[in-house]
Amino acid sequence: MSNPEGENASILIGRPRRLRLNAALRGMLRETQVSASDFIYPLFVVHGTGVKNEIGSMPGVFQLSIDQLEAEARSLTALGIPAVILFGVPAHKDPVGLENFADDGIVQQAIRALKAAAPQLLVITDVCLCEYTDHGHCGILNVSDGARPRPEPNLPDGYLLNDETLAVLTKVAVSHARAGADIVAPSGMIDGAVAAIRAALDRAGFEHLAILSYAIKYASGFYGPFREAAQGAPKFGDRRSHQMDPANAREALREAALDAAEGADLLMVKPALPYLDIIRQTHDQIPQLPLVAYQVSGEYAMLKAAALNGWLEEPRTVLETLTAIKRAGADLIITYYAKQAVGWLAENG
Ligand code: PBG
Repeated sequence: MSNPEGENASILIGRPRRLRLNAALRGMLRETQVSASDFIYPLFVVHGTGVKNEIGSMPGVFQLSIDQLEAEARSLTALGIPAVILFGVPAHKDPVGLENFADDGIVQQAIRALKAAAPQLLVITDVCLCEYTDHGHCGILNVSDGARPRPEPNLPDGYLLNDETLAVLTKVAVSHARAGADIVAPSGMIDGAVAAIRAALDRAGFEHLAILSYAIKYASGFYGPFREAAQGAPKFGDRRSHQMDPANAREALREAALDAAEGADLLMVKPALPYLDIIRQTHDQIPQLPLVAYQVSGEYAMLKAAALNGWLEEPRTVLETLTAIKRAGADLIITYYAKQAVGWLAENG
């Protein structure tokens, strides 16, 4: 024994380090695996041709025009990434967001282009109003249009009208389905959105399309860079009347249970890393539905900025966050790091 006393060895009832002795043991005993097939890659699509705009606060992430999507689809497929989630930047914005459900809207064009280029690449679409409305809010607002008073005089001025918004969301979801989307993902935290979209899809003959519900979406400061990328920042006010208070966990389980009951096929928690406890609780409470976590724009920006400054080792820290998100209970991860992470996973084995 190298221990000069000899006797201390007997009080060590376990030596877990035995199983960490070398890379082969560690690899064989790793409890959580992350792989390309876990990833969903977000794409921002814009009008125009030859557009590949890097987003200032998200180095390495681009707004792309439709003609760029074929190459993008091929590179994602080659990397083994099975799915994308689409966000569109429309040509014009108005109070309702008419391009959101137009046949030749930017997202509808993108779906068709991606499906033509790579039919097996799953296309998920974000179903929300904020990128399309001139006020940047996620629904129809209870405001006077000058000529007429506000539509619901009993509800507060500027209130985001829930049921009027559902009527638009259902049109958007059906329009995405008609263009060929595989999964629609309502992201506005509008009450009853899953049930309304399910009914509308079924009526339109799309009973086979799944709904990924952004069931638990916090009113988070981490969406900042996304609002630059998708040009969907609210012109006034914020989203606290519909997105969740970051302080609440029990309410998250209520949201998840409601969406499950309304017929959601997959649930999402967003953001990811600051809400690992919520991922864990949702996974344990509703184990029958697959769970998706969204590592959002601010999480990417934070890691990327530190990496570019040489303050963090990027591959190692990013893979650590993705592993943590899966360990907490997520089955799939939406991440701007998807493509880079696949490369790092291949290097690290
Ligand atoms: C709403 C939507 C947002 C994000 C995804 N869908 C923005 C918001 O709610 O303000 C944020 C994603 C990210 O930050 O990466 N359409």
